[in-house]
Amino acid sequence: MASPCRLILALDVETKEEALALARPLVGKLVWVKLGLQLFTRHGPAIVDEFHALGFKVFLDLKLHDIPNTVSSAIKSLKGRPCSLLTLHASGGPEMLARAVETAKEALPDCRLLAVTVLTSMDQNQLNAIGVERSPEEQVRLLGRMAIQAGIHGLVCSPLELPWLRRDLGSSPDLVTPGIRYPEARGDDQNRVMTPAQAAQQGASFIVVGRPILKASDPIAETLKIRKEIGELS
Ligand code: C5P
Repeated sequence: MASPCRLILALDVETKEEALALARPLVGKLVWVKLGLQLFTRHGPAIVDEFHALGFKVFLDLKLHDIPNTVSSAIKSLKGRPCSLLTLHASGGPEMLARAVETAKEALPDCRLLAVTVLTSMDQNQLNAIGVERSPEEQVRLLGRMAIQAGIHGLVCSPLELPWLRRDLGSSPDLVTPGIRYPEARGDDQNRVMTPAQAAQQGASFIVVGRPILKASDPIAETLKIRKEIGELS
């Protein structure tokens, strides 16, 4: 049986203090949090330890993209940090990805590496502007296959990409998807969306949810509701 889908809360706020204030009440009610570039560049890598010490598993969303040696060195610099998921850009190429996988085996043995294929901000015009003639979907497929072949453990993808990525890649890669919304809550910058239950049914390993929980009148209730809906809690 496929493993259940899990909820990751995206702590997209300016400061560690704000993030802690949002996360503390959720200790014991939520397993995963996502820390991104904004908090990492402000507070440094020790922020991973702090959220882990509270009892959370940490998804570190750094979207690394550089020459293989530099990405590998950055991963070495994270050695021993308790992060369980880490992102890189697939467009860094197979050599960068393979080196990252090799380095992470030693430096972060309990961390799974996720590749970002095409950012949700990139449409056909944006791709053409950087010399990519393929459609966004073709580009996602190409980069996704390449990343998994390079040894990467999973992909960040849009929920609408889940059905065909699952068909293409099989059941083992982690497919991690933002773009989660309820129909009544459309209207911010997420355009290509699904509900939590739909994403779970379509094969998401993890859903990443930010504002629907962070801005909810009762974030604890919203968290538990979503975890039940995706089958993470019975
Ligand atoms: O939209 P929400 O607040 O739920 O965002 C959760 C995550 O979705 C963010 O941390 C970001 O990584 C991602 N995101 C995205 N495309 C957008 C906006 C946010 O993929 N347009």
